[in-house]
Amino acid sequence: MNTHVNKLVIVGLGHVGSCVLADAVASGLYGEIALIDTADGVAVGEALDQHHATALDTRVNVTVHAGDYDDCADADIVIIAAGPSIIPSEEEKVPDRAALARTNAAVIRQVMGDIAAVTHDPVVIVITNPCDTMTHVAATEFGFPRGRVFGTRTMLDSARMRRLIADRHGIDPGSVHGLMVGEHGLSAVPALSLVSVAGVPNTGLGDAFGGVPYELGELAEDVVQSAYDVLNAKGWTSAGVAQSAIVLARAVLLDERAVYPTSGPLEGEYGLSGVSLSLPCVIGRGGVRRRVTPPLDATERELLGVSASAVRRAMADAGAGPR
Ligand code: 2OP
Repeated sequence: MNTHVNKLVIVGLGHVGSCVLADAVASGLYGEIALIDTADGVAVGEALDQHHATALDTRVNVTVHAGDYDDCADADIVIIAAGPSIIPSEEEKVPDRAALARTNAAVIRQVMGDIAAVTHDPVVIVITNPCDTMTHVAATEFGFPRGRVFGTRTMLDSARMRRLIADRHGIDPGSVHGLMVGEHGLSAVPALSLVSVAGVPNTGLGDAFGGVPYELGELAEDVVQSAYDVLNAKGWTSAGVAQSAIVLARAVLLDERAVYPTSGPLEGEYGLSGVSLSLPCVIGRGGVRRRVTPPLDATERELLGVSASAVRRAMADAGAGPR
């Protein structure tokens, strides 16, 4: 008898990892969730806390426990949220995620080394910032098959973009189709020429729904700023990125073949390679099954090149290079 249950491992139980955990338990998709954290007691405490919550009717009877890297051996998915996050300060209201490149590359190399020592089977989803650089390290340095390691990133920027457009026109963000590409960070690119609601392009949204359609530069700025609005108010961001990871994990677990923007090493798309950026990808069992290159307009393509240069600088800091 096959006794395998859907199993998730979460590495790093800070603000983001604990939010991923809560959302994963609430999703009802997992039979077992194992937690790994370097801080004494955190994984044990988070596991116990969620264990108690499973007695309530909003939860399924999932087994949540503190674990170690051996738990990755039979895991379907590992989500990495380890390492410090950017911190807002009086002097720096818009801290660049890239400043964490060197510190978090060491964290990711440690975590990925420990996973790879046990298995290369699970799909690994990287959240840690700067996400594109960390994804590049994780995806290229540890012998994982192509597509099996990917980063959450402009999945979150895209959600923020769709929310902003929806708010401007007074509609449900679920009805707004569109995505951000490039770096998860200051140079993220709204693919505004591809945005549509019920087939109506961005330029027609004012006539169709009221409100003034976004311009490209304005939208790019507002999406970037929206992260800092949260960060400067509460000190960290967690809900959007946790949901992004959970939706991507579901697409893997159920082999949904859903198309979402995720980060990974490019292989010539838009003339770019040797750098990890987000582009729309078909996500299913095994991770990224295919990367898609929609027809960006000339400005968006130029901005994607700028974004690639920004990520390459962070990669150089992290000692990550084309392999
Ligand atoms: C976010 O955009 C800080 O990268 C994090 O929410």
